[in-house]
Amino acid sequence: MQRSGRFCSLLTLLLCNPARAADLPTPASAELCGRCHRAIFQAWTESNHSKSMQSWLFQDALELAEADFGRAARRTCLRCHSPVGVALGDVNLDKKVSWEGVTCDYCHFLRSVSTSGANPKATVDFSLVKTGPLKDASSMAHGTEYSEVHSSSAACAPCHQYQNSIGFPLLTTFSEWKQSRHAKEGKQCQTCHMYRVAGQVVDPRVSRSSLAKINLHQMPGSHSVTQLTKAVTVQMSTTRKDNELQVVVTVTNREAGHYVPTGSPLRQLILEVHADAGAGYRFRQERLFRRVVADANGELVTRERVAFLKGAKVLSDTRLAPDEKRTETFSFPIPPGIQTQLTANLRYYYSPMERTDSPKQVNFLSLSRLVR
Ligand code: HEC
Ligand code: HEC
Ligand code: HEC
Ligand code: HEC
Ligand code: HEC
Repeated sequence: MQRSGRFCSLLTLLLCNPARAADLPTPASAELCGRCHRAIFQAWTESNHSKSMQSWLFQDALELAEADFGRAARRTCLRCHSPVGVALGDVNLDKKVSWEGVTCDYCHFLRSVSTSGANPKATVDFSLVKTGPLKDASSMAHGTEYSEVHSSSAACAPCHQYQNSIGFPLLTTFSEWKQSRHAKEGKQCQTCHMYRVAGQVVDPRVSRSSLAKINLHQMPGSHSVTQLTKAVTVQMSTTRKDNELQVVVTVTNREAGHYVPTGSPLRQLILEVHADAGAGYRFRQERLFRRVVADANGELVTRERVAFLKGAKVLSDTRLAPDEKRTETFSFPIPPGIQTQLTANLRYYYSPMERTDSPKQVNFLSLSRLVR
């Protein structure tokens, strides 16, 4: 056993002898898992989880966090952006797997999560036994163990619910969900972000799995236009008040299991209405749905690193709660009888730190109407 293990390099693992794949290092790079769990690996590479370390946005923020707040800040950030790096004590990120961000061998070493404290706490055990939702899985490459937590929102809580060292609840996605109708109806984070799709759990050339369905590992969220258009709906109507044209727009959080936006306070949902009635009558107004956060001195928080480390209070919160229907009225000084082109746009704004404009925001919904 020992000997053949030594002769099989990890990359030739499969070709050599899948039955002796106990050579999987712990933790292993996602690429190794992908040799058998091909479809899941492919989906995960497209997820923001796989980019949580490598994205420029995060790299810039991490560098500045360290420059502004010292070396200890680094560990705080890596706790969620490179959980394996922190678990291995590799905060200098010398190991490849530390660069993989939220990778397979963090989530599939998760044993349980306690959500009783302000910060949910994960118990993670780095061994050769992978935990997951399958009850009678059997693998030649590693041990398997059924785990209840994988099909529950608790699995996501350790990184999507966060109170910083000042005691300010910065990320509240898990608690927002917990108070929503969705939680009462038994819908978990996975129901919307990891729903089942056709696919092979294990590449059929390696082994036959009894299942032809996999849980979507892309975990589409606000960077997915499909998710955004599912989540938010808009209706527009007009009335007249003397010489004013009034536009009434109703925005509904129909399908998100939490506030829109949720998570980082730098995210914004922007409703913009244009009224164009020709020269002299071109107007634009907007409403922002967002949480405005300040530090302990009342200074506005405008960058992620400051939010995570120094966020201390909420100055205002105009986000849409789950199921909330919000009506916004816009008044334009356009007299009756003039033909007016009305347009309502909904934009999702991610972060002012993005290096170029296109990833900063996405225009995902647009309504137009001609009125007189
Ligand atoms: C040599 C092939 C192979 C490699 C490499 C491999 N697996 Fe597996 N894995 C399997 C097989 C086969 C199953 C069982 C599938 C079934 O029974 O439907 C499985 C099952 C699983 C399960 C389901 C456990 C459960 O009870 O729900 C998880 C999670 C898992 N693997 C994670 C990983 C991770 C993470 C890696 C990389 C560190 C990895 N696997 C590497 C072949 C492999
Ligand atoms: C170890 C920490 C960790 C765990 C556990 C975790 N996440 Fe995340 N998640 C992150 C980080 C960090 C990001 C931000 C990545 C980025 O954009 O750089 C993120 C981003 C996301 C996004 C946003 C995608 C987008 O389009 O912007 C969704 C959705 C998401 N996670 C869902 C989940 C779900 C569902 C679970 C539980 C099954 C989960 N996460 C578990 C750390 C985690
Ligand atoms: C009923 C469906 C539903 C449930 C349940 C749900 N979400 Fe979402 N989530 C969405 C939709 C739709 C979006 C896209 C709209 C948005 O960004 O708010 C989204 C967006 C997100 C984002 C991206 C936010 C951002 O601003 O980048 C994260 C992170 C996220 N969800 C995490 C979670 C976690 C963690 C849970 C469980 C505690 C959860 N979601 C439960 C539907 C759901
Ligand atoms: C953010 C956490 C997270 C990451 C990262 C992650 N998984 Fe999963 N995985 C889950 C959860 C949660 C489930 C179960 C979802 C459910 O039952 O609703 C799951 C299910 C599975 C299963 C069982 C089959 C299925 O689709 O349900 C396998 C196998 C698996 N994952 C392998 C992998 C591999 C390989 C990687 C890396 C390429 C990976 N996972 C990355 C959380 C994660
Ligand atoms: C408790 C877990 C956690 C900690 C600690 C954490 N983050 Fe994050 N971070 C997230 C999650 C989850 C997201 C995804 C978006 C959301 O929920 O809004 C995110 C998003 C981000 C983004 C935006 C990425 C994008 O794709 O838009 C940046 C930048 C960022 N974090 C930087 C930092 C920095 C710098 C630190 C340390 C000072 C830090 N984070 C600490 C969990 C964490």
